[in-house]
Amino acid sequence: MISLRELTLGDAPAVQRIYGDASVRYLPRLAMTAQNAASWLADHAVERHATTRTLYCFGIDHANDLVGVIRLRPDRTSAALSYIIRHDAWGHGYATKAVGLVLNFASSTLGLASVDAKHHPDNHASGRVLIKSGFTCTGRSGGAVMYIRHFASCDSMS
Ligand SMILES: CC(C)(COP(=O)(O)OP(=O)(O)OC[C@H]1O[C@@H](n2cnc3c(N)ncnc32)[C@H](O)[C@@H]1OP(=O)(O)O)[C@@H](O)C(=O)NCCC(=O)NCCS
Repeated sequence: MISLRELTLGDAPAVQRIYGDASVRYLPRLAMTAQNAASWLADHAVERHATTRTLYCFGIDHANDLVGVIRLRPDRTSAALSYIIRHDAWGHGYATKAVGLVLNFASSTLGLASVDAKHHPDNHASGRVLIKSGFTCTGRSGGAVMYIRHFASCDSMS
């Protein structure tokens, strides 16, 4: 069982472990240093208090262990979803469960019509997470495989 929670500045060591070498392999970024993790969390703390949110970032918690991070960048009609799970926590369904929770948040709380996502072409596990979560592959763009998940109008009222 996982839950989503806000991140705090004290999560820096856990966030640094999540953004380790194996997990950033297919991402356009390097593994985090301790300093990267601290400033990344400080930036998110500022964002959380913005009048107009351009980013929602949640920690993925399993039994008081921060195993991953999931982010949603809302736009007026759609939103971009991304997620990362600590390498030693892969394969337990955590990403799929976290995506399900954020999709519910996007449709029910934010009232969005759709969510977009993408992954590196070799990142088959991420593609599997998206397909299991009801996304449709829409092709390739900019070297990435693109997906969209539309919400039925009744989804946002449930
Ligand atoms: C992609 C990632 C988030 C998956 O997290 P996870 O918690 O292990 O995902 P889940 O357990 O929910 O589901 C993984 C699915 O991928 C499948 N999978 C794993 N490795 C695979 C591979 N090499 N090829 C095909 N499918 C694979 C699993 O079997 C599972 O599918 P199943 O339930 O049908 O068996 C995790 O590997 C990760 O953090 N990777 C690095 C960051 C990243 O790539 N983020 C996505 C970019 S937005």
